[in-house]
Amino acid sequence: MIAIGSDHGGFELKEIIKKYLDENNISYHDYGTYSLDSVDFPDYAKKVCQGVLSKECDRGVLICGTGIGMSIAANKVNGIRCALCNSIMTARLSMEHNNANVIALGGRVLGKDYAIEILQTYLQTEFLGGKYNKRNELIKAIESDH
Ligand code: RB5
Repeated sequence: MIAIGSDHGGFELKEIIKKYLDENNISYHDYGTYSLDSVDFPDYAKKVCQGVLSKECDRGVLICGTGIGMSIAANKVNGIRCALCNSIMTARLSMEHNNANVIALGGRVLGKDYAIEILQTYLQTEFLGGKYNKRNELIKAIESDH
């Protein structure tokens, strides 16, 4: 199950991504927003992160205009590793090395087809573990120290 959410800047891409998920029988929970009306992206970052942390969803996808605000907000949530992905390579490495449980995309930055390729790459990639586990543990230690 994928948790998906956006602000108005990411709304159109969210709808395109939902169509892709529907066509590929990938289940998702849409945490909003549900229109192009202006909203505050941190509210949606929080909802999607809660969906992932509660284990209702396995991974999260957040979309705003650039993906920047969503990634900053999501990374404030304890236990969330959110990667701003703007290429196939960053999407692959966000999972292989960082075990990102959420990715952020820029609805005003990415072409539709490329955004789908990025998503597809992220969803089809697995964490490599090994030495990358230790690095994630070190990130967790920063989280608990601050
Ligand atoms: C909203 O206008 C825009 O600031 C937002 O979608 C996002 O790009 C923030 O990082």
